[in-house]
Amino acid sequence: MTRSRLALRADLLDFTADPGWSAPDAAPGVRWRPDHWLLVEDGKILGAEPAGVFTPGADWQTEDHRGRLLLPGFIDTHVHSPQLDVIASFGTELLDWLNTYTFPAELRHADPVVAGQGAETFLDALLSHGTTTAVVFPTVHRTSADALLSGAHRRGMRLIAGKVLMDRHAPDGLRDDVVGAERDSRELIHQWHGTGRLSYAMTVRFAPTSTPEQLAMAGRLMREVPGLYMQTHVAENRAEVAWVAELFPEARSYLDVYHRAGLLNERAVLAHGIWLDDADRQLLADTGAQIAHSPSSNLFLGSGLCAWPELEAAGARVTLASDVGGGTSLSMLRTLADAYKVQAMRGVKLTAWKALHGATLGAAQALGLDHEIGSLDAGRTADLALWDWAHGPVAQHRDGRARKVHERVFAWMTLGDERNLAATWVAGHAIFRRPGSEP
Ligand code: GUN
Ligand code: ZN
Repeated sequence: MTRSRLALRADLLDFTADPGWSAPDAAPGVRWRPDHWLLVEDGKILGAEPAGVFTPGADWQTEDHRGRLLLPGFIDTHVHSPQLDVIASFGTELLDWLNTYTFPAELRHADPVVAGQGAETFLDALLSHGTTTAVVFPTVHRTSADALLSGAHRRGMRLIAGKVLMDRHAPDGLRDDVVGAERDSRELIHQWHGTGRLSYAMTVRFAPTSTPEQLAMAGRLMREVPGLYMQTHVAENRAEVAWVAELFPEARSYLDVYHRAGLLNERAVLAHGIWLDDADRQLLADTGAQIAHSPSSNLFLGSGLCAWPELEAAGARVTLASDVGGGTSLSMLRTLADAYKVQAMRGVKLTAWKALHGATLGAAQALGLDHEIGSLDAGRTADLALWDWAHGPVAQHRDGRARKVHERVFAWMTLGDERNLAATWVAGHAIFRRPGSEP
């Protein structure tokens, strides 16, 4: 049997450990390999060799992208597929934004044609932004989860998603009930959990839109089905936090609502986590649950500034997320640039190393998927994104003036977006190429 062999020549950047909050020059875990060949065999990374001393043999298909940057595909740990319909909607904070824009848009995805087209558009958009893995909310409708998971499967993508659970405080047509939600979830788990590269997530929208009975049902399935993920929102907005305190007076905190339902474990992904206290941070650390920090959304919806270093100091894990459509871009570069600005407002300096680690290896580790994705280590699946260092005259001018590697990478991260993306590979297959970006 002939093997498929692909060698890509570029500047390689990935991480072997968390660079932490160290200064750029002192940060551990940064693996910078300028002008190397990355060798991919049958969709898996074999290794990397310096281009100066190594030439791939005739049995390798080669692509010479010297002068470009090759990274593992980005991992977006929290994003809503139907919300491409409402991205960039004016003038509201979270609860009004949900009622004014988001719920009406999600209602339209009850139609299988809308759900199907929406899922295809969304998945192609992820790939054309250099994101190869995501933890995704579709809508409450089974058909929308089905369309998303089947579309990801067809593309060979590593995706985590599940039907949204919401049985109260939402409009007609956008609520399920405990019995129907359990039936739909079980059927979707049976069909998709562990199929190809997919995993299923019990997807509690947020505490206000689930009855205690529905939260308990989700907790039951989490205990019953090995490897299930859980995704939800927590402590995003102050009015939301006050509402949760009214709805769940017995809980110590918003996060505790989920803990009491048995929903927190090392595969739980909770978006935002802005308005948490020390006990909450400790609970995250004790359970292994992670915060999907969504800086673009937090700025756009005026939600607040996430205390990322404090979360980590308590032992909690933090990953990076676009949270489109509260967030205003699927680009993880833009997300990381916003993360820098959020920490700058708090007097904290986020290096490009720490930021990029959080969107690659850090997220893969937090999701328990680092054996498969998140780095350019041998044996990893070849989910890759190839970037131009600069797009447009200003970025090109700035790139030309960079002297040190971190300076250059930081300017790329801060000025770049999807227009910098040249190509994306999923399991060694080129699945996206920007027209005209051939080597
Ligand atoms: N809380 C509950 N639902 C949502 C949502 O769709 N987006 C955000 N940002 N927060 C939420
Ligand atoms: Zn969200």
